[in-house]
Amino acid sequence: MHKFLQNKLLESDRLLISDIDNTLLGDRIALKELIDYLQSSEIAFGIATGRSIESAQQILQEWEVPPPDLWITSVGSEIHYGEEIQVDLEWLKHINDQWQPELVREAIAKLSGIKLQSAEGQRTHKISYLVDPIRSPSIWEIQEHLRQYQLQVQAIYSHQEFLDILPLRASKGNAMSYCANKWNFAIKSVLVAGDSGNDEQMMTSGANAVVVGNYSSELEKLRGQNHVYFADGDYAHGILESIAHYQWR
Ligand code: GLC
Ligand code: MG
Repeated sequence: MHKFLQNKLLESDRLLISDIDNTLLGDRIALKELIDYLQSSEIAFGIATGRSIESAQQILQEWEVPPPDLWITSVGSEIHYGEEIQVDLEWLKHINDQWQPELVREAIAKLSGIKLQSAEGQRTHKISYLVDPIRSPSIWEIQEHLRQYQLQVQAIYSHQEFLDILPLRASKGNAMSYCANKWNFAIKSVLVAGDSGNDEQMMTSGANAVVVGNYSSELEKLRGQNHVYFADGDYAHGILESIAHYQWR
């Protein structure tokens, strides 16, 4: 099991999980205010990102964000904990079910307008592509194509540009639910923040959610949904606004 030096996941009853790019990061003043608030509170803090764990560590260091208690990386296909970056092997085992990466690559290679991202974007349980929206089939057609190959996967589209193929059980939303359950957080005591397509499932998994002001158009469809708050403020301003909205302070 996990042995932590220090980790608020063990003692807190509230958990904030934020996307990194264009949500947590983007406005240094608001970010500082948010970090000061979190450090003086009992709230456990996690990030959920499309970045790899190495890339997440690097960007958080650059922006002087202290290491979070929880790291959901590579679009929910990997989970780590604390400063020690302890990997959650149980999660990897859980999502590996029916994962056939070679067949995914073979199937997608048949489609036009979609090319593999560089090696950095590829992980054991995440295959990522760059999409030319003019030449490529729609996300629905891509999903249908994958079904014809009998592939049980998730195809997630972000910023009209990125396509991630993940095992069926992996996504930021599923990873969030798994962590809430594992660390005994009531789902309503989890606040999730995001700005784009790969955040959608986190926002519709029963937690309280905030879409920051500078969001990407694929999240427009969440407007009006229960427990999805559309902030006026951009980046960490939007997160701070939601903390007040959900009466966490
Ligand atoms: C990050 C990852 C990339 C992924 C994108 C959307 O930019 O580096 O691989 O496609 O997020 O999830
Ligand atoms: Mg983002």
